[in-house]
Amino acid sequence: MSFDMYREIIMDHYKNPRNFGAIKNADGQATKDNPLCGDSIQITYSVGKEKLSDIKFNGTGCSISLAGASVLTENIKGKKFDEVKNYTDEDFMKDLTVPISPARRKCALLGLRALRQAMDIEQHEN
Ligand code: FES
Repeated sequence: MSFDMYREIIMDHYKNPRNFGAIKNADGQATKDNPLCGDSIQITYSVGKEKLSDIKFNGTGCSISLAGASVLTENIKGKKFDEVKNYTDEDFMKDLTVPISPARRKCALLGLRALRQAMDIEQHEN
């Protein structure tokens, strides 16, 4: 993937974030900070028939963290709880489709960390 394509995907989600906002009367919510920079992402979700029927995010962060949360909500919305529970960091990185340097991994994963915290899913941060 060329650098331009990478930038295009990240900037598209950054400028036009999907599922941005907060769900009123959400069934679950959590906010996760990146301790390295202080940026934070909030996730709210609602449930229906053992699946995530809706999910939204908001917060402040760099382009990669906000684009990552946008891609996450697009890909995870409508999934069954089991699928969400088994959705790994690597699954997310594949869905993101753009290569992320090790230094920016924490940024890209911030939304997923918040979602796991909101759903009380165990996570091993690296
Ligand atoms: Fe703060 Fe990326 S620099 S989340």
